[in-house]
Amino acid sequence: MMALEELPTDLPPPVDDGGADHLLNRQLPTMELAATTGGTIDVAEVGAPWAVLYVYPMTGRPDRDLPADWEMIPGARGCTPQTCSFRDHQAELSDLGAEIYGISVQSTEYQAEMVERLHVEFPVLADPAMKLGRALDLPTMEAGGMTLYKRLTMIVRGGRVEHVMYPVFPPDRNAADVVEWLRNRIAPKADARASWNERYEAAAALYGAEPNQFIAAELSGLSPRRVLDLGCGQGRNSVWLAAQGHQVTGLDISDVGIAHGNELAAAVGVGVDFRAVDVVNDWEPDEEYDVVILSYLQLPQDMRRRAHAKAITALAPGGTLVLVAHHTDNLEQGVGGPPMPEVLFSESELAEDFAELDIKRNKKVLRDVEREGELRVAHDILVRAIKRS
Ligand SMILES: C[S@@+](CC[C@H](N)C(=O)[O-])C[C@H]1O[C@@H](n2cnc3c(N)ncnc32)[C@H](O)[C@@H]1O
Repeated sequence: MMALEELPTDLPPPVDDGGADHLLNRQLPTMELAATTGGTIDVAEVGAPWAVLYVYPMTGRPDRDLPADWEMIPGARGCTPQTCSFRDHQAELSDLGAEIYGISVQSTEYQAEMVERLHVEFPVLADPAMKLGRALDLPTMEAGGMTLYKRLTMIVRGGRVEHVMYPVFPPDRNAADVVEWLRNRIAPKADARASWNERYEAAAALYGAEPNQFIAAELSGLSPRRVLDLGCGQGRNSVWLAAQGHQVTGLDISDVGIAHGNELAAAVGVGVDFRAVDVVNDWEPDEEYDVVILSYLQLPQDMRRRAHAKAITALAPGGTLVLVAHHTDNLEQGVGGPPMPEVLFSESELAEDFAELDIKRNKKVLRDVEREGELRVAHDILVRAIKRS
């Protein structure tokens, strides 16, 4: 008999029956499952910050026969090589911030024999009652009179499923595939300028030509001021502010966005000092402004703090800062916006960033959005703050 660690080369590949289509973006439920590392683990709490949950049908045991025709069932064979592949990539995954969890319907006692024999150090969770399967509607298969989970791998961040691999084939390559996916996902977007240029090349007014509704509501009726628009994009807010009589500077990393801003300003018949610059890395405030706006400049924590500190520096004493952005809750409850939690903002983060200002407003605001003929709601966050004189 072939060793369980080895994988036959002629296994029938499983097909995607759509059984995992619903899992993307699902929040893992609170559920304690017994673990081979001792005690129980709450599935909702896994991750550091990533978790890889690989769900598998059944590992064999050297002293017991596998169900009849096991190798003929697409997707059945290969649980041991898959587990070995995660064992061998555990250090690499840990460096990427990911914890590994195996899950199957066998008992902890059954799984314990496997982890000892294979020297597996990460927890394998037992779900004989298929509690997780019911909560998440996981796909199952019948074999040898048993109901087993079909093999799938979920990559989870903050309790939310960010990526699903299904079917998983061949199983012994699964851990390497997860490493590759995580590397690409975590790698800083190499070139923000190139990616924003690409988006703007495809759409001359990606966010429309009208100002953002909250910016307009917060700043209409002001007597002429010096205004700075950080991350001005294609200039919809800058041009509207210039049309209100303000002297406006608009800065954005995308030269394509800036070119579109100039075109919009010319079409409306106003002048805006648009400049293409990376406001996080290549710009220092050299003038004072009465108003600084930030409209959906969504950056990860470190860059966000730097951009916000510069916004504060650029404000004249008594000046007003207005920020609107996608709220953290938008991911679960709203529509549109980036799907990455690390670039969404919460009230507490913004309270910290702007602590030295006199914060007048820091709250969630809702925005109606039409999607495919339906009215949906986006969850934004609005800050209005004054620099103390
Ligand atoms: C979601 S768009 C919003 C554009 C505009 N404020 C609006 O509301 O229409 C975000 C903008 O931030 C710009 N951006 C991203 N990183 C930047 C950086 N480091 N420096 C300057 N602009 C940046 C992008 O080019 C993009 O135009």
